[in-house]
Amino acid sequence: MGVFFLLGLVCMDFKLRPFSGDRVPRPHNEISVPSLSEGYTGLDLEIGAGAGMHALAYARQNPSRLLVAVERTEAKFKAFESRVSRHEPLKNLVAIRDNAVSVVTHLVAPRSLDRVFILYPNPYPKESQANKRWHRMPFIQHLHECMKPGGELTIATNEVFYKDECRAWLLGLGLFKLVSEAELSLSDAETPRLPRMRTHFEKKYLRARQKIYNLVFARC
Ligand SMILES: C[S@@+](CC[C@H](N)C(=O)[O-])C[C@H]1O[C@@H](n2cnc3c(N)ncnc32)[C@H](O)[C@@H]1O
Repeated sequence: MGVFFLLGLVCMDFKLRPFSGDRVPRPHNEISVPSLSEGYTGLDLEIGAGAGMHALAYARQNPSRLLVAVERTEAKFKAFESRVSRHEPLKNLVAIRDNAVSVVTHLVAPRSLDRVFILYPNPYPKESQANKRWHRMPFIQHLHECMKPGGELTIATNEVFYKDECRAWLLGLGLFKLVSEAELSLSDAETPRLPRMRTHFEKKYLRARQKIYNLVFARC
């Protein structure tokens, strides 16, 4: 990767297939996110919540907002549920075991999400897997439609290629503007730059002395 990879991004024509929601399977549970979010000051979504470390802390710190946290892997979701059961019940956290694409496509209303978090997504580093990266999936166009104008999308990764490609695609598609970009390391943990480690993967990477990248976009 490196210079040639960045040059490739500069010359790239950013186009995606249209998103076909009717081809996406329905989620396993037909909950109504719009009715659940009534009475809250905001609706937020976490995609790939893992064992729920960020989701729990976020819901606790933001009691007036509803967080829908989706994790599709059974073992991770069990760890999430067990973490939830060990803490004070949080009415403003809805944990769902499912594919986030199904949940957003069928349960979330257009222009309803204020904040979306995708923290340490699987990077799918092989070129043959490139279309599985969130910013290269047609679904990103639907996620954009489900966000309020000005709503924020936070993406964190430890992979420099993923950070560069994600920024290039989201801006190149014209769907998002970059609000902030930070490069953080262990020395930033427990400082105002990174007050606490947010997820298990964040902990793992920082403790292994890797850099992490945090991108915040605003929906155009
Ligand atoms: C590398 S892990 C990061 C987990 C957590 N965010 C963290 O930082 O500790 C990526 C997670 O995303 C989940 N995931 C991937 N694609 C998903 C999808 N379409 N819907 C829901 N979860 C998904 C995986 O099961 C996995 O738990």
